[in-house]
Amino acid sequence: MTPIPPGADVLTIGELSERSGVPSSALRFYERQGLIRSRRTTGNQRRYSRATLRQVAFIRASQNVGVPLGLIGEVLAFLPDDAAPTQEFWERASSCWRDMLNSRIKQLERMRDLFTECIGCGCLSFDQCQLINPGDKLGEQGPGPRRLVKS
Ligand code: FES
Repeated sequence: MTPIPPGADVLTIGELSERSGVPSSALRFYERQGLIRSRRTTGNQRRYSRATLRQVAFIRASQNVGVPLGLIGEVLAFLPDDAAPTQEFWERASSCWRDMLNSRIKQLERMRDLFTECIGCGCLSFDQCQLINPGDKLGEQGPGPRRLVKS
């Protein structure tokens, strides 16, 4: 673990939370997932570099467009320690994710159209309704009752 140099410009978790608007619990979760990193004081308190603010902004913006945390972490792993994501970094990440996001948008549009049909129908049929049983996946499991959600 790299020691914190005296006089280093670092943030406590409370300061990072206040400045980013992200609850401390979420910041600790991001850290456990390896998305952000902290150093520890001799009293074992977290300290974050100022660049972490932009990393958290990057995480939130990515989450807001539906990018899973695992993918966000893979991209953030390319950033050197204590480096803030730049505009170029964001452009490269967003271009990597564009195809995935377009595919998700198309899937959501299909679901929206099916949902619109179902509002007018209301049958909630396991045999016919594509929202309840897309592609008759339950039928592929053979005859008899099937669960909608596995517990
Ligand atoms: S509710 Fe009838 S097809 Fe979905």
